[in-house]
Amino acid sequence: MASESFSVNAPEFNQTCSELTLRPVSPAIGIEVCGFDIRGEHESSLIDTLKEALAEHCFLFFRGQELTPNEQVSFSQRFGKLEKHVLNDYNLKDLPEIYVLSNKKENNGEPVGRAGAGQYWHTDLSYVKNPSFGSLLYAIEVPPNKGDTLFANMYRAYDALSEPMRDFFEGLKVVHDFAHTQRTYIEPAGLTKPASAEQLAKTPPVEQPLVRVHPKTGRKSLYVSPGMMTQVVGLNALESQAIINFLVSHTTQPEFVYRHRWQKGDLVFWDNWASMHCALDDYGPDDHRLMHRTTIEGQNVL
Ligand code: OGA
Ligand code: MN
Repeated sequence: MASESFSVNAPEFNQTCSELTLRPVSPAIGIEVCGFDIRGEHESSLIDTLKEALAEHCFLFFRGQELTPNEQVSFSQRFGKLEKHVLNDYNLKDLPEIYVLSNKKENNGEPVGRAGAGQYWHTDLSYVKNPSFGSLLYAIEVPPNKGDTLFANMYRAYDALSEPMRDFFEGLKVVHDFAHTQRTYIEPAGLTKPASAEQLAKTPPVEQPLVRVHPKTGRKSLYVSPGMMTQVVGLNALESQAIINFLVSHTTQPEFVYRHRWQKGDLVFWDNWASMHCALDDYGPDDHRLMHRTTIEGQNVL
């Protein structure tokens, strides 16, 4: 899809559209799909258009949706097979393809969902061999003007590298380790119970290429997941840490980043292979936030 076909006006996210309109969300990343009801019957050609826009722009955004969990699952399945999150305590009991993120508690004190998820830069499931291709997050309850999510475009981060740096990065591999994420972010935050030994055993450290070629666009991107990366393979500890520090500061430059301010009824769909994201930790226990996520497998998609 050629970018010239998008409106050049600044997006007016709260305007409804009488017909299907694709317009940029920000110069950094993303397309807003306006005038589209997720619940409808959608022809394959329309789904293909969305797949193309997603692969090219890393992020799709649909405002004003009213979805049941089953409707979210059905729409998500148009893009690939869904996976069930390894932290299975937070999957809906009767529909485990839905992973619940929330800081709310039931009357008996049990968490409604996973609290404080993703409050560090990462891309989903980078710690498994075939990381999920995409995630869809649906906002059911959001605190006003808090709990935004940042999204960064990793094609742009790659394109902005100098030639010598691109050459150096080509072929490098990085270890991604879920146990490191647990120790560094999740346990100290204390918002949710730590992953069990059994869950950690299912997610041993994996090596991922630092430069990925997107199978749909053929474009190169940096595959970086700061919350999960521990070591650049083949470098000594000092070199490795210096490169990881560089990758974090390079990829999170404001030019590559868009900040999504949520409204109830937003559905956001991101490509995990060419973008990363970070949830902001700027709300308290009384600022209720409830989201449903579906996650598309990394194998046999597109
Ligand atoms: C996720 C995630 C961010 C958020 O669902 O993968 O990182 O803002 N969520 O809830
Ligand atoms: Mn995430």
